[in-house]
Amino acid sequence: MNKFDLNKLIRPNVLEMLPYSSARDEFEGEASVFLDANENSLGSSIEGEYNRYPDPRQTPLRNEFAKLKGIKPEQIFFGNGSDEAIDLLFRAFCEPKKDRALIFPPTYGMYKVQANINETPVDEINLNPDFTLPIDKIEQVINPNVKLMFICSPNNPTGNLIAKDKIIRIIENFRGLVIVDEAYIDFAPSDASMISEIENYPNLVVLQTFSKAWGLAGLRLGMAFAQKELIDTLCKIKYPYNVNQLTQDAVLQAVLNPTLKNEMVATILEQRTQLIAALNIIDAVKYIYPTDANFVLAQIKNATEIYKKLIAKGIVVRNRSNVALCNDCLRITIGTAAENKALINELTVLTK
Ligand SMILES: Cc1ncc(COP(=O)(O)O)c(C=O)c1O
Repeated sequence: MNKFDLNKLIRPNVLEMLPYSSARDEFEGEASVFLDANENSLGSSIEGEYNRYPDPRQTPLRNEFAKLKGIKPEQIFFGNGSDEAIDLLFRAFCEPKKDRALIFPPTYGMYKVQANINETPVDEINLNPDFTLPIDKIEQVINPNVKLMFICSPNNPTGNLIAKDKIIRIIENFRGLVIVDEAYIDFAPSDASMISEIENYPNLVVLQTFSKAWGLAGLRLGMAFAQKELIDTLCKIKYPYNVNQLTQDAVLQAVLNPTLKNEMVATILEQRTQLIAALNIIDAVKYIYPTDANFVLAQIKNATEIYKKLIAKGIVVRNRSNVALCNDCLRITIGTAAENKALINELTVLTK
C-alpha cells in the first residue's frame, strides 16, 4: 500500500478546527481548591461524589484496560457505547453527500442509520449466501469515494466470524478506513480478534463494547482501537465528558477483576451448545447457522407466525425474516438455562 496519510481522509473542517478545551484539560495536577469549572463545591444532591466533572480522558480506566488488551493507552477511544464511535467516525471522515460508506448486509443496522443521519450515501454488497465476505465483488465494484467500510465479526445477525485473511486483504488494498466491529468477539475463539493488527495497519479501526460479554449494557461503554493519530481525531470531536463518572468507576472495577465476566462467557458458551442441540430436535427448525456470538440465527418454518406466538407466551426473540438473506430466520439470544428451556418448550408446542 502507498504511504497512508490519515490527514487526507479527515474532513478538512475537522482537521482545521480547535477542540473545546475543558477546565479539566487546562489544569492537570494536584490542587486542593477547584474553582475552575463552575461545579457545586458543596457536594452532590444524592449519596456519592458526583459534583465534579469526570476525567475527559478516562485515564485510570484507559491504563488498566490497555494492560488487559495488550495495547497502548493512546490506542483506545472510549465512548457512550460503541455506537458513539460509529457516529464519530462518520463525523470525522465523511463529508456529507460526497464521501460514501460500504456495508455488507445482513449486518448491524446502526451503520446505515448513522450514515443517513450524516447524509453519507451507503453502498451495500450482500454477504455470500453462507455469510462469508464477497471479496472479489468488493474489489471489482468499490466506489472511489468510499471512506468507511464496516465489517462486523462475528456478524450480527448471522453470528459468524469473518475470515481474518480476507479482512487483511481488504485493509491492504483499500485507501479508506476498515472498521471491524467486534461487539461479540468474547464469544469467539481467543485468537479471532483483529486488535493485534492495529499496530500494522493505520487504516484499521476495531470496535468492541462492554454491552455484551461484560454484561454492562446499561452503563453504556464502548471503544474503538486504532493507531494514536486516528484515536486523537475521535477524541478531538467527542463531547468533552462523554463517559460519566459512575461508568468510569464501575467499569474500572470490572476490568480489574474480569473473573466473573470470564465465568459468564463460559456459561453462555455451554448454554449455546445446549440450545443448538435442543433446537435441532425440533422439526420446524430447518437450519441453524454456525455461530461465534451469544446468539443463534435459526431458520424456522413460518418464522413470523412463530415469532408472534412466542410473544403471546411472553418470550421475545428477534424476527429477522425481512432482512437480506435471512428469509424465515429468528435471531435468538442465549439466555439463562431456565429461559432457554422455556423457549424450547414453547417452540416445541407451537410448531407441533
Ligand atoms: C454489531 C454491534 N455493534 C455495536 C453494537 C452496539 O454496542 P453498544 O452497546 O456498545 O453501543 C451492537 C449492539 O447490539 C452490535 O450488535
